[in-house]
Amino acid sequence: MRSHLLNDTTAEQYRRSVTDGVERVAAKLAATDRPFTGVTVDALAPRIERIDLDTPLLDTAAVLDELEEVYLRDAIYFHHPRYLAHLNCPVVIPAVLGEAVLSAVNSSLDTWDQSAGGTLIERKLIDWTNARIGLGENADGVFTSGGTQSNLQALLLAREESKTDSLAKLRIFASEVSHFSVKKSAKLLGLGQDSVVSIPVGHDKRMQTVALARELERCKQDGLVPMAVVATAGTTDFGSIDPLPEIGELCEQYGVWMHVDAAYGCGLLASLRHRHRIDGIERADSVTVDYHKSFFQPVSSSAVLVRDASTLRHATYHAEYLNPRRMVSERIPNQVDKSLQTTRRFDALKLWMTLRVMGADGIGELFDEVCDLAVEGWKLLAADPRFDVVVEPTLSTLVFRYIPAAVTDPAEIDRANLYARKALFASGDAVVAGTKVGARHYLKFTLLNPETTAADIAAVLDLIAGHAEQYLGESLDRAS
Ligand SMILES: Cc1ncc(COP(=O)(O)O)c(C=O)c1O
Repeated sequence: MRSHLLNDTTAEQYRRSVTDGVERVAAKLAATDRPFTGVTVDALAPRIERIDLDTPLLDTAAVLDELEEVYLRDAIYFHHPRYLAHLNCPVVIPAVLGEAVLSAVNSSLDTWDQSAGGTLIERKLIDWTNARIGLGENADGVFTSGGTQSNLQALLLAREESKTDSLAKLRIFASEVSHFSVKKSAKLLGLGQDSVVSIPVGHDKRMQTVALARELERCKQDGLVPMAVVATAGTTDFGSIDPLPEIGELCEQYGVWMHVDAAYGCGLLASLRHRHRIDGIERADSVTVDYHKSFFQPVSSSAVLVRDASTLRHATYHAEYLNPRRMVSERIPNQVDKSLQTTRRFDALKLWMTLRVMGADGIGELFDEVCDLAVEGWKLLAADPRFDVVVEPTLSTLVFRYIPAAVTDPAEIDRANLYARKALFASGDAVVAGTKVGARHYLKFTLLNPETTAADIAAVLDLIAGHAEQYLGESLDRAS
């Protein structure tokens, strides 16, 4: 069994195994004609259940054959131009190369003595990101597992900086379309059920700053403590960007921590044409960026950035066995002092490889392309009487619903849209997402693949209309 350990004597076997695996995946990617096979849970589960994990196959080729059966054949392929559902991007090759390197070397970015250059590379990428945001000379940050963890850490720092004796008094302000990780974070941070104040958005799905000002004032009058305002730069559904400069003003006026959740909108940091859309982000006390959403990086690749490096001390604990306090005065760079995690992947390497091979402009160009595509998609939807589209895109999502000419009952229209999404998924021809706007069910395209064309969008809209009409036809038959 020692022959399976990756070391100097097994280097050749490693080369062969990885090459075999890469061959399989490359062949698969080249041959995917649909983003999904439409496999059902009931069809797939028995194939996985019958595998006896106590009886290994011992042979890599046989395991890869098995993997084809249980995973590769029926995976959801984000690189396919008709995968239009969630915030998943196709990945760039330099990042995948980085992924292969980082897991083989297996650095852990908690301490210098487990990572060496890895730590310095991560630090340089944090500095690079901070410079793009404009957070200033004292900024810092750390890579995280994703936007959820970044938001949690940012709000932890905000809580600690709020210096209150009563957690029950703390309030976080976030728009009604902010990401649910804000509420989850509040719970994890021991804040009360009412701690997240939902601020209404306008028709453009951006936070209404008049309402924010009113709530901040009310909070003060009620003797409560405003802990943080979470501005979203790229909401999950609409891609809308809250008015960052105005929110920055209010945060300054009320002495509140400003967190910008740019998990999605961070792609604009590299944009050649749309960077101005996140102007005001430089006022933040903390920022969430998800490179695995709009920098075309494999999961995971994310970071939390802070204006004041010293605030990261709220995540610092020392242990004799890992990062004794004396190491700080010895200036040994231990990233664990800044992180919620201990053992931590060297995800930064993927972004490093990407920037070194493609450059930031290369990433920005790809993101600009999907933003342009969303505008084309919006034009198609706005001109098509079969659909209602909610808002013009700021980034690359489109929220819309099919509205049949002959049906007026909103509940029946809901059912037709829900059916269309499900039927499309089952067909595997395309994958789209769904959400609710008010009480009504809508469909959503998240466009993150520069290979998707307006013709793809038009074709998927026709498929949706076809499925919805089929539902309505059958519904009529049922009723008669
Ligand atoms: C605006 C926003 N913030 C945070 C998150 C959470 O990010 P992650 O899924 O990487 O934890 C998402 C995910 O979609 C998001 O859209």
